[in-house]
Amino acid sequence: MASPTLICDTEPWNDLKNHVEEIKKSHLRNLMSDTERCKSMMVEFDGMLLDYSRQNATLETLNKLYQLAEAAHLKEKINRMYSGEHINSTENRSVLHVALRAARDAVINSDGKNVVPEVWKVLDKIQEFSEKVRIGSWVGATGKSLKDVIAVGIGGSFLGPLFVHTALQTDPEAIKSSRGRQLRFLANVDPVDVAKSIAGLNPETTLVVVVSKTFTTAETMLNARTLREWISAALGPSAVAKHMVAVSTNLTLVEKFGIDPNNAFAFWDWVGGRYSVCSAVGVLPLSLQYGFSVVEKFLKGASSIDQHFYSAHFDKNIPVLLGLLSIWNVSFLGYPARAILPYTQALEKLAPHIQQVSMESNGKGVSIDGVLLPFEAGEIDFGEPGTNGQHSFYQLIHQGRVIPCDFIGVVKSQQPIYLKGEVVSNHDELMSNFFAQPDALAYGKTPEQLQKENVPPHLIPHKTFSGNRPSLSLLLPTLSAYNIGQLLAIYEHRIAVEGFIWGINSFDQWGVELGKSLATQVRKQLHASRTKGEPVEGFNFSTKTLLTRYLEASSDIPADPPTLLPRI
Ligand code: F6P
Repeated sequence: MASPTLICDTEPWNDLKNHVEEIKKSHLRNLMSDTERCKSMMVEFDGMLLDYSRQNATLETLNKLYQLAEAAHLKEKINRMYSGEHINSTENRSVLHVALRAARDAVINSDGKNVVPEVWKVLDKIQEFSEKVRIGSWVGATGKSLKDVIAVGIGGSFLGPLFVHTALQTDPEAIKSSRGRQLRFLANVDPVDVAKSIAGLNPETTLVVVVSKTFTTAETMLNARTLREWISAALGPSAVAKHMVAVSTNLTLVEKFGIDPNNAFAFWDWVGGRYSVCSAVGVLPLSLQYGFSVVEKFLKGASSIDQHFYSAHFDKNIPVLLGLLSIWNVSFLGYPARAILPYTQALEKLAPHIQQVSMESNGKGVSIDGVLLPFEAGEIDFGEPGTNGQHSFYQLIHQGRVIPCDFIGVVKSQQPIYLKGEVVSNHDELMSNFFAQPDALAYGKTPEQLQKENVPPHLIPHKTFSGNRPSLSLLLPTLSAYNIGQLLAIYEHRIAVEGFIWGINSFDQWGVELGKSLATQVRKQLHASRTKGEPVEGFNFSTKTLLTRYLEASSDIPADPPTLLPRI
């Protein structure tokens, strides 16, 4: 039930506003010495441990946040999502990415129809097709096995699959099952990205998967036409049927493009682009690379969190707790950013994926009812693998702005290394940082401590750390396909919780449209100027000057050039 009042007009919101003063009087140094508090700020679920004791929060804060959740009708909103109601009201759609990883016998309805059998029909088709390609019974036009895959897509049709692929690449089971195969991605419409994606590949042994929910995205369609040309130029136009398949909700456009609909893998409009990694968008390219059984484990991990999110009490519910704490940090403590800091290189693409899931979902200025928000929703996400970040932006996090941090660590490395004679293993070295950094942020270092260390007085201000900087730590047993699925679902649901509390629609993305339509006007102008020499018209002084300069400086480009493909 959408609340007609804005959340900021409710009593629990005001109560939390008033509570800020009290919290500001406390310091994490003191809060951390209360063992009972810390004990109650740990949650274990399915092998994971979440420790949120380093948040600028007390048990009273948490209780107030639960009241806020009640005022926002959080439980009802979660239930409405799972029961297939059209909670994406501006697009009149259900939001059912949970159905993508539901068990075969589950029942999840959208518009009165159980969608789970359709989901499994596509998963079965993916399994069959990917096995054929992997064992070499589906071959290319010249009879060679297709050992390389280029997935063409952008945004949600790229970032989630890239994150999962990067995380699996170093997993021992996934390494074994992907031996001799390559998976690459082509997202940017920049011809340089095309060149990089095909460098060293032979069209004869390459399968192109065009991934686009709408099959209209300008970048993806030009890249798809470019790779179609790359295949045709080498093997003839008839080779396209063997070398190109598609993932889309728009099978009519897939066919128009020249891809046999039998070689298309469907998904549905109740799957948002940024929530689509568990649909054919991610499952097809990942199954081609790693085999369906590995990808199925990833789906199972996500499903485990789906059930936890749906049924666990809020005080033990990881996505709910994380979402509420983000609200606390952003809307009450005034910290608008969040750093995602995995202490495993395998998660190097987690932050870019979460940037889209979070910022495209919650970067909104109006409530779900269209009322202008008198507070700012959404948060700024960024991140890097931990120790790399330490040598980059951690300076700002320790002594500059306050940025709540997510520390993500794994108990057992995917790739353990031990060197005889070293003090600790390589993974222990990495994890020493994972355990130390949150305390450095929380406790800081006082001028008194520095004096005791005989630090020269003029350096004391520079070497002082105020501390009291919030973070949370999530410890995973390892980084298997299953754990990767868990992590994905935790972030997806956490972000939904934030949107549900702010009272916005986290599942539309109207903010990406304006730039797209202005680019259409520019594209028309470039065409007219290049082919007919038409002057630049209809733009402001700045854009006109830049465009004119661009055209003049590249006037050697022929008006109607022959096809030119990268020479890398
Ligand atoms: O950037 C806007 C957007 O619509 C995203 O939401 C989506 O993930 C991306 O473009 C790609 O869209 P499609 O899968 O339809 O090509």
